Amino acid sequence: MRPLIAGNWKMNGTIREAIALAESIGANAPRGEADPDLVVFPPFPHLHAVGSTLMGHGVAMGAQDCHAEPKGAHTGDVSAPMLRDIGCAYVLVGHSERRLNHHESDADVRDKAAAAIMAGVVPVICVGETMAQKAAGQSESVIQRQLQNSMPDRFSTARGVVAYEPDWAIGTGRTPSEEDITTIHALLRRLAPAGTRLLYGGSVKAGNAPVILALPNVDGVLVGGASLAAAEFLAIAAAASPA
Ligand code: PGA
Repeated sequence: MRPLIAGNWKMNGTIREAIALAESIGANAPRGEADPDLVVFPPFPHLHAVGSTLMGHGVAMGAQDCHAEPKGAHTGDVSAPMLRDIGCAYVLVGHSERRLNHHESDADVRDKAAAAIMAGVVPVICVGETMAQKAAGQSESVIQRQLQNSMPDRFSTARGVVAYEPDWAIGTGRTPSEEDITTIHALLRRLAPAGTRLLYGGSVKAGNAPVILALPNVDGVLVGGASLAAAEFLAIAAAASPA
């Protein structure tokens, strides 16, 4: 499976900074047959400028969230057809920061993923346990429940993506052991439809990317902080390219 290297820019930067970042990623992205797919997830207000900047550079764009309805009276929300219209190929659904800060349930995530698929946008379903759940030995049961309840019916036809992001590893500099990532990704492989790309996310940097990307059933990474510097993001992508 072709690796996918994803950059989640979260709520950072001005339009000018987003364009500069997109320009240097676009200009230097690896373009070989066996090189990974690259996708960046800018904040909503920057999507138009970043989409124009990336045009023709072979780097895809995604959004960080979408609403479950295609349109209507939902002040402040953005629909999946709008994302498709502005050039998004992917959308993150159920990122732990959404699950936590916006109380999104697995059912919400499933509905958003279904809306994305309807609109022709590939959903990236995020799952992950808390430190308390990990300490209680519940990682696998939590993730199994999250994924099974977050995948919509048509997920198998969507060439969807699942990202394992333990919330205690996000932005903390801490990562699970290689054994733990291997165990969880084996579980995800059993649960997700064939052809689903499985990403690991949480404190991925150029330094640890080669080891993480070499683990079985890791088809790419979802990168937060380290995706805000083009050189670092491209170094992570290089770790997924053939030597
Ligand atoms: P991080 O974030 O790389 O800054 O830990 C990852 C994510 O939240 O997607």
